[in-house]
Amino acid sequence: MKFFIDSADIDEIKKANGMGLVDGVTTNPTLIKKAGRDHQQTIEEISSIIDGPISVETLGQTCDEMLAEADTYLTWGDNIVIKIVMTPEGMKAVKELKKRNVKTNVTLVFSPLQALIAAKAGATYISPFLGRLDDIGHDGLTIIDQIRTIFDNYAYDTQILAASIRHPMHILSAAQIGADVATIPASTLLRLFDHPLTANGIDSFLSDAKQWLHAKA
Ligand code: G3P
Repeated sequence: MKFFIDSADIDEIKKANGMGLVDGVTTNPTLIKKAGRDHQQTIEEISSIIDGPISVETLGQTCDEMLAEADTYLTWGDNIVIKIVMTPEGMKAVKELKKRNVKTNVTLVFSPLQALIAAKAGATYISPFLGRLDDIGHDGLTIIDQIRTIFDNYAYDTQILAASIRHPMHILSAAQIGADVATIPASTLLRLFDHPLTANGIDSFLSDAKQWLHAKA
């Protein structure tokens, strides 16, 4: 499973990348707002740090507006993926970008049929939002499972990018289902390391080692 960082915060991205765990980055307008810096500068900096795909979201509502934005974003780095919302105009843009060999990430996917439409349009990634579905009492993981089945049935090579991850169990379940990628907030990524038995084991090994180190001295 590939791990992307869902962030536009350069320090967070550098820290996660330093742990050797980052295969790519996803951004969105909210994350750019949170980072509080110029959009282009932020993306250029992320692109220079991370080798993998960097998703940058278009804001236009029409296919032509999205394509014009894509042309601009593609000059910001050689690993830019164009993030496009799940609308009819968006899918027209995905189809056109596919013809141009430009990678796309269809965002705001909340149903398996939306994922099917995006795969038919030729999306590189589709982003089902797990947490936001759970927030309204739906089961985000069931949607991912249904998408996995559909893509396998028809051998679509569109990758399932599990998004809106809220906690480590989302990642575990998405991995068991076979999502290709999880895009993870940096704080949640750090929590993957945690286990109380690991912490206790380190404490007791260190305490035992101190005893024989002192005995030797
Ligand atoms: O980047 C898209 C997605 O991961 C957003 O997550 O937490 O705003 O629902 P969230």
